[in-house]
Amino acid sequence: MIENLIIGSDHGGFHLKESLRGFIEKLGVKVENAGTYDDSSVNYVTYADRVAGDVSRGRFHGGILLCGTGLGMSIAANRFPNVRAALCNDIFLARMSREHNDSNVLVMGGRVIGEELAREIVRTWLGTPFQGGRHMERIQSIENLSVCNVKGASIE
Ligand code: RB5
Repeated sequence: MIENLIIGSDHGGFHLKESLRGFIEKLGVKVENAGTYDDSSVNYVTYADRVAGDVSRGRFHGGILLCGTGLGMSIAANRFPNVRAALCNDIFLARMSREHNDSNVLVMGGRVIGEELAREIVRTWLGTPFQGGRHMERIQSIENLSVCNVKGASIE
């Protein structure tokens, strides 16, 4: 279960991040704020790096990333080993990303969904356990795949 997490956003997700922080604390989960700290324009990769980097290194059980759409954050976060970032702008995806994919970084789009839906997505994501079983082997295959590609990379 996710008992502590780190949350970060760019300007496109800033207001949603600020509203979710208190909500998550009330659910009993400790939340570290990785920025951004106001709505000035910034590069989302900086915050994906902070959040996904810390999850990758095992400093937090999970992370939440928010940008305008969620797309840039999810693309960047999935570059990190052991990070399974899932862009979930609805509740069904949030549940499935935990049950089947053991997602450890939840990504949402601050310009796509409203505050109430975002809260329900977070509540679902935090409360849904990984099913394990056949999904465990598949997740391990993802890590093996990235190692293989790095080792086998060639420039033609
Ligand atoms: C910023 O304008 C926007 O591009 C960013 O928040 C995000 O949506 C990128 O994927």
